[in-house]
Amino acid sequence: MRILSGIQPSGTLHIGNYFGMMKPAIELQNDGETFLFIADLHSLTTLPTPDDLRERIIGVAVDFLACGIDPEKTVFFRQSDIPQVTELTWILNCSTSVGLLERAHSYKDKIAHGFIPNNGLFSYPVLMASDILIYNSNIVPVGKDQKQHVEITRDIALRFNNAYGEIFTIPEERIRETVAIVPGTDGQKMSKSYNNTIEIFGDEKAIKKKVMSIVSDSKGLDDPKDPDKCNIFALYRLFASEEQIKEMENKYRSGGFGYGHAKMALFDILHEYFAPYRQRRKELLNDMGYVNKVLADGAEKAWNEAELTMKKVKEAVGLL
Ligand code: ADP
Ligand code: TRP
Repeated sequence: MRILSGIQPSGTLHIGNYFGMMKPAIELQNDGETFLFIADLHSLTTLPTPDDLRERIIGVAVDFLACGIDPEKTVFFRQSDIPQVTELTWILNCSTSVGLLERAHSYKDKIAHGFIPNNGLFSYPVLMASDILIYNSNIVPVGKDQKQHVEITRDIALRFNNAYGEIFTIPEERIRETVAIVPGTDGQKMSKSYNNTIEIFGDEKAIKKKVMSIVSDSKGLDDPKDPDKCNIFALYRLFASEEQIKEMENKYRSGGFGYGHAKMALFDILHEYFAPYRQRRKELLNDMGYVNKVLADGAEKAWNEAELTMKKVKEAVGLL
C-alpha cells in the first residue's frame, strides 16, 4: 500500500498542519510505504520571493525530520526534483474540463478573499493529481480542506483510465475526523493565511503570547463553562491523554476555573509535547549535510517511480 502526502513550504509550520497532516503521515509510516514531499511548485502559485522560498523549503524539511519522519521508512523529497510531475500535469490538463476546476472550493475561497488568481492557482488541483497519480498512491492523508482536491484527482484518474486504459491507481483520502479542522486563535480554521496560527517551533515567549490571545466568551472566573464550545479546550484535547481531558472537562464545568487558567494549561502541555522535537531540530540544524542527503536519496527513489508511470502514460496517449 502506497501512502502519499505533500506539504507546501508556505510558511512556518503550525499545530493545524501538525495534527491535520504531519502526525497522521508520520504515524502511517508504519502501515505502508510512505512518500512525503515538499510541494514547492504549488507554493509558487502565491509568488513568494526567491529567498523566502529557498528558506522555507529547507525549513519544512528540517521541521518534518525533527517531528519524526524516518528516512528509512519514508521517501522524503522535493516536488520540483521530479520534473516528470509537471510533464504529467500538462497531459492531464488536456483531459481535464475547466468546469471541474471551477468547482474547486479552495480556488473559489481564495477569490472570495480577494486573491487575483493566476493560471497556476486555477490548475493547482491538476498538479496535485499528478503528484498523487505519478507515484501510484493508494492513500492520501490530508486535512479536511484538501478532501475535494483528492476527489478531483479521482475524477481526473477515472476519466483518463476510461479514455486510455487502466493506467492510474485510484487514490483515497484519509481524514482524521476528530482533528479534522484545528481551530486557530480566533476560532476560525488555523491557517497561515488567516494570521491565527500557533507555531510548532516558535519562540517560547511568542507562543505564550499567542496562546494567551485565543478568543473565548466573556464568562467570569466563577462561572461554569462548556468545554465543547471553547477553542482553548479544543486545542488542549489534541495534546492531552483521556484522563487529562476528563479532568479538564470537570474543571470547566465546576466553575472557579478561568480561561486564563485554561490557557496556561494549554501552553504547558503543548510546550512539553514538542520538547523532544525541539531538541532534534537543534541537532539537525547543525547537520544540514544530512538533511540534504535525505532529500537527494528521496528524489532518486521518487524519480524511478515517476519514470515508470510516465512511460506508461506516454505510450497510452501516443507520445511514445
Ligand atoms: P495553511 O492553511 O496554513 O496555509 P496548508 O494549506 O499549507 O496550511 O496545509 C498543509 C496541510 O495541513 C494540509 O494537509 C492541510 O489540510 C493541513 N492543515 C492546515 N491547516 C489545518 C487545520 N487548521 N486543521 C487541520 N489540518 C490543517
Ligand atoms: N495541496 C496540499 C496542501 O496545500 C499540498 C499537496 C500538494 C498535496 N500535492 C499534494 C497533498 C498531493 C497531498 C497529496 O496542503
